[in-house]
Amino acid sequence: MSMKIRKDEYNFRMIAKTLFGLEEILAEELTALGAKKIRLMNRSVEFYGDQRLLYKANLYCRTATRIIKPIVDFKAVNENELYNKVIKIGWGKYLDLRQTFAIDAVITKSGFTNSLYVAQKTKDAIADYFRKETGRRPSVDLKNPDIRINVYVYQNECTIALDSSGEPLFKRGYRTRTGKAPLNEVLAAGIIMHSEWDRKGPFVDAMCGSGTIIIEAALLARNIAPGLTRKRYGFMNWPDYDVNLFKTICNNARKLIIPKLGFKMIGSDINRMQVREAAENARLAGVGHDIEFKPSDIKNLIPPPSPGTLIINPPYGERLSVNEIKQFYNSIGDLFKKNFTGYDAFIFTGNLAAAKHIGLRTSKRIQMYNGPIECRLLKFEMYQGSRKTKYQQD
Ligand SMILES: C[S@@+](CC[C@H](N)C(=O)[O-])C[C@H]1O[C@@H](n2cnc3c(N)ncnc32)[C@H](O)[C@@H]1O
Repeated sequence: MSMKIRKDEYNFRMIAKTLFGLEEILAEELTALGAKKIRLMNRSVEFYGDQRLLYKANLYCRTATRIIKPIVDFKAVNENELYNKVIKIGWGKYLDLRQTFAIDAVITKSGFTNSLYVAQKTKDAIADYFRKETGRRPSVDLKNPDIRINVYVYQNECTIALDSSGEPLFKRGYRTRTGKAPLNEVLAAGIIMHSEWDRKGPFVDAMCGSGTIIIEAALLARNIAPGLTRKRYGFMNWPDYDVNLFKTICNNARKLIIPKLGFKMIGSDINRMQVREAAENARLAGVGHDIEFKPSDIKNLIPPPSPGTLIINPPYGERLSVNEIKQFYNSIGDLFKKNFTGYDAFIFTGNLAAAKHIGLRTSKRIQMYNGPIECRLLKFEMYQGSRKTKYQQD
């Protein structure tokens, strides 16, 4: 008699990591992919699914930085207890002696010494496990390991997980050239998704730098899975890697691509060199034909007819005097009124003081972080006609 395997038995727990403020958007992306039992956490989303979903989450999620698969949870009060529990895990199931590995550790609100020491003790436990079993041990490669292992300690709760992404997912593989202050690709995708751009009308980034925002917007509009340009994922080194399944998932993703956009997308920047780099990045991302790149000061840019969406990420102005930066942000506000009537205009900035000088009323303010810098995504609805009238009507 053949044994019936319940579909549920294929399902396992996964955690998608993300950036502050993108948890809900990521949960929506995962729901659309068929994830089950979704739970929002701090900078991450827990969900359940099968191997197909694990591959799809890596390929499709625009706002995930990595997808990890927890293998064991246990309690430990210090590094020695952690060592004693990690050495008991059957590591032969996950890692081959010939493969290299590395540990990423994060500790929060715990009595453990520090994350480096936690990583070191975990590494020792894995090496000692293999030594005991085989007399040999796998090597560590901190830069480019075959298998990345994630240790998360919250108070005395420890989770050991396998990192299915390997290199973080914001490394899409299209950005070989970067400007002075390029945005993380996941952050750029999150900004666009927060803007609720309908993907039917024009989109402009008039300070495009290396092009991250406009490229991510074009990828979204053409329904191009952001991972299609990537060559490697961590799960490709796992013993259960199903190469045919992943190939099928990639082929299906290619079939969903919208061949051509029916509206304009413009990326411009005052710096000619940046514009050239952005155009090259867009070409590598496969959206070179969808975006018109031009060197231009924002004040001279004539946008496509409204309605449209403008998102800019102006310099935070570290090198400018307080007065200069105040004037710069104030002139952006004036420009919005003069040249972008009928647009939904967004500014993403880490200079919260300067943002006050834009001089327009925001209709939405979203807190986000660019690395350690607290930022805001500010929305200004540049209504046709008198803004005052519109607000009075409202
Ligand atoms: C923070 S960077 C943008 C980075 C971009 N989001 C990326 O991911 O690469 C700000 C950009 O604004 C451009 N910029 C500054 N003043 C400008 C102006 N008046 N008109 C157009 N671009 C301007 C700079 O050249 C720079 O590339």
